[in-house]
Amino acid sequence: MASPDDGNVIVPDSGEAAVKVINLVKTFDNGSVTALDRVSFTVPKGQLLVIIGLSGSGKSTLLRHLNRLHLPTEGSVEVLGQDVPALTRPELRILRRNIGFVFQQFNIVGRVTCIENVLSGALGRIRGPRIGAMMYPKWLRVEAFEQLDRVGLADRAWQRTDTLSGGQQQRVAIARSLMQKPKIVLADEPVASLDPEISGQVMDLLVQCCIEDEITVLCSLHQVDLALGWAHRLIGLRDGKVVLDSPVDESLDHNRVMDVYRELDPTGAKRDEYVSSDIDPIS
Ligand SMILES: Nc1ncnc2c1ncn2[C@@H]1O[C@H](COP(=O)(O)OP(=O)(O)O)[C@@H](O)[C@H]1O
Ligand SMILES: [Mg+2]
Repeated sequence: MASPDDGNVIVPDSGEAAVKVINLVKTFDNGSVTALDRVSFTVPKGQLLVIIGLSGSGKSTLLRHLNRLHLPTEGSVEVLGQDVPALTRPELRILRRNIGFVFQQFNIVGRVTCIENVLSGALGRIRGPRIGAMMYPKWLRVEAFEQLDRVGLADRAWQRTDTLSGGQQQRVAIARSLMQKPKIVLADEPVASLDPEISGQVMDLLVQCCIEDEITVLCSLHQVDLALGWAHRLIGLRDGKVVLDSPVDESLDHNRVMDVYRELDPTGAKRDEYVSSDIDPIS
C-alpha cells in the first residue's frame, strides 16, 4: 500500500550546503577532451544559482555530476551532505528522489495526459508501478492537480501532452519535478528551445515555485539577461573552467554585465549564442 509517509525519505543533513564541488575534473575520450577543469564551488541551501557559458563550456557535464549521470575523473562532489560518487545504488536512488531535473528537451511522455506526466514525478514516493492516472491514489491526484494549477495548466490536466505548445509542455515538466518534492532542482537550459518571451514566463514560473517550496536551484542558461531578475548568483564557465563567480546584486550593474559577456567570450565572436535581440552588450 502506498502512503504519504513513503515520501518522507530522510536524507542526512550536514550543515547548510546543498552542493559542494571541489576540484572537479572530467575528461572524455581517454583524456583527450577536458569538459571540466578543476571546478570548485559551494551552493548554500535555498540559493538560486545560474550557470552561464557558451555551448560546449561544460554546463551539462557539471549538472550531470550532481545526480551521478557522470562520475568525476578527479575531485569530489557532495550533494545534500552525501559523497555522490561513493553512494551505493539504494543510497543513490534516495538522493535522486531529492533532486528534480528539468531538461531542455522537456523529457515528458507526449502520448499521455498532462496529469499522468505530473503524477509520474511521484513514482519515487510510492511503491509499485502505475499505469494511467486513475491507478494513483486520490491524494496524489489532488496534489498533481495543485501542481498543474501552480503552472497555470489545471484546465489541461486530461489533455494529451503532445497537443500542448512547447512552453506549456515545459510547464508540465516543471510540475512533474515539483511533484517529486525535491530539495534541489537542476535545470539544464530549460528554456533553450522556447522563444524569448515564453522563455521569460517559463523561467519566472520555475523560479517562483522553487522559492515557495524553498528549493535550491542550479540552472544553466546561455543568456545572462534571463537570470538577472531572480538569480542570487552567477557562475560563468569557459572551456570547463570557472571564469566568473558573482552575486547578483547592485554591484552587477550594466557595465559588470558587459564584463560577464566578455569573460565568457573575450572576442565577442559567439555573441549571437547568448545575447537576446533586445540587448546589445558587446559593441
Ligand atoms: N559523453 C561525452 N563524450 C565526449 N565528449 C563529451 C561528452 N559529453 C560532453 N562532452 C564534451 O565536453 C565538453 C562540454 O560539454 P557540455 O557539458 O555538453 O557543454 P554545455 O552543456 O555547456 O554545452 C564539450 O567539449 C563536449 O563536446
Ligand atoms: Mg548543455
